[in-house]
Parts: sequence; C-alpha cells; structure tokens
Amino acid sequence: MIATTVPKIRPTAAAPLVGIVALLALVVAVLYLLGVFERDPDSGVEVVSDSRQAVHDDYELGIGMAWLQRWVTKLWYAGDAGHWELADFYLHETEETLEDMIAAGVVEDGHDISALIQGMLIPQIEALESAVDEASPDLFRRHYQAMVVQCNACHVATEHGFLVMDIPSGPPPFAQNFAP
Ligand code: HEC
Repeated sequence: MIATTVPKIRPTAAAPLVGIVALLALVVAVLYLLGVFERDPDSGVEVVSDSRQAVHDDYELGIGMAWLQRWVTKLWYAGDAGHWELADFYLHETEETLEDMIAAGVVEDGHDISALIQGMLIPQIEALESAVDEASPDLFRRHYQAMVVQCNACHVATEHGFLVMDIPSGPPPFAQNFAP
C-alpha cells in the first residue's frame, strides 16, 4: 500500500527541526526589534532597509526648505536695515539648515539635492558672509540677489520651477523689529 511507503516523521527526527524554527523566529524577532526591517508601504511586505534610503526618508526636504526660506527672508530684513549683528545670526541659522540638508544625503527623483546645495548655494552664503563682515549694503543686496537666482535655478533643475523665490518687499511679516 502507498501509505506504508511514506516515511513517518518520528518525534526524535522532528525535535531538532522545531528547535531550528524556534531559533529562526527568535532571530527575526530580535532583528525586528532592532529596526533592521521596515514595512514597504506599497506591498506591505517586510524589506531589509537600505541605510542611505532610510536617511533620505527621515529628512523632509520641504520642511528644511521652509526653514531656509524663513532664515533668508529674515536675513534680508536684517541686512536691508543695516543690522549686521542680526544678519550674521540669520546667516548662521541658514548655514546650519544647509549643513543638515547636505549631511542628510538627500536624493529626490534622481536629483542629488545635497550635492546641488553644496555647489549652488554654499558659495552664495559665503559671499553674503563677506558682505555682512564688511557691513556693505551694496554687496549685501548684490549677493542676496545672486542667491535668489540660485534658489530658483535649482527649483527649475529639480522640476520644481513653479516655486519662484523673490527679494522680500513691504514691511516684515514677523512681528519682529529688524532695526539696529
Ligand atoms: C538643491 C536645489 C535647491 C536649492 C538650491 C533650493 N531649493 Fe528650495 N526646493 C528644492 C526642492 C527639490 C523642493 C521641493 C521639496 C519637496 O519635495 O518637498 C524645494 C522646495 C522649496 C520651498 C517649498 C516649501 C515651502 O515652505 O513653501 C521653498 C519655499 C523653497 N524651496 C525655498 C528655497 C529658497 C529660499 C532657496 C534659496 C535660499 C532654495 N529653496 C534653494 C530644491 C532646492
């Protein structure tokens, strides 16, 4: 009869197998707790995360850009009013935000945002720094204008050309005194 030819798994043979399965389950549970796995939102499947991707996912470029806009707008009002100490403060805030963007290794839709920030914006910020050090309204306005050109050039380069930055105008909307 067929039934008699099927080998039976005897308890003595099955015991090590159960042990191995239990051990694997334990390893998976520990890895899960260590955060090695993450959920793929599209498939609901567990995938092992790529660390570079994880860094990018954690950094919200839109939020960073919103802060960047806030710092450089305040920088304008301070420099335009000739308040160089305040302008210097906002230049540092701007730099810190840019350093975070560079350190985060942001790649969006194939655009290396971090490399673009480094190449397009850092030289502008350094030029603004020398204008503020020299307390020169002319240099400050010229370099600020050049910076805004780079903001918009990068928005175009990264398919966000609808985000058009400008030189601030009108009274500051911050309920803050920018006069020296
Ligand atoms: C590396 C290229 C690049 C540079 C340089 C750059 N941006 Fe952006 N910016 C982007 C991208 C890409 C987005 C879209 C981010 C997203 O997907 O949320 C963006 C989004 C924004 C937004 C939308 C967020 C909001 O609050 O409305 C603002 C504002 C902005 N940028 C301002 C600036 C300013 C100001 C500068 C210059 C000081 C600048 N950006 C320089 C690439 C750049």
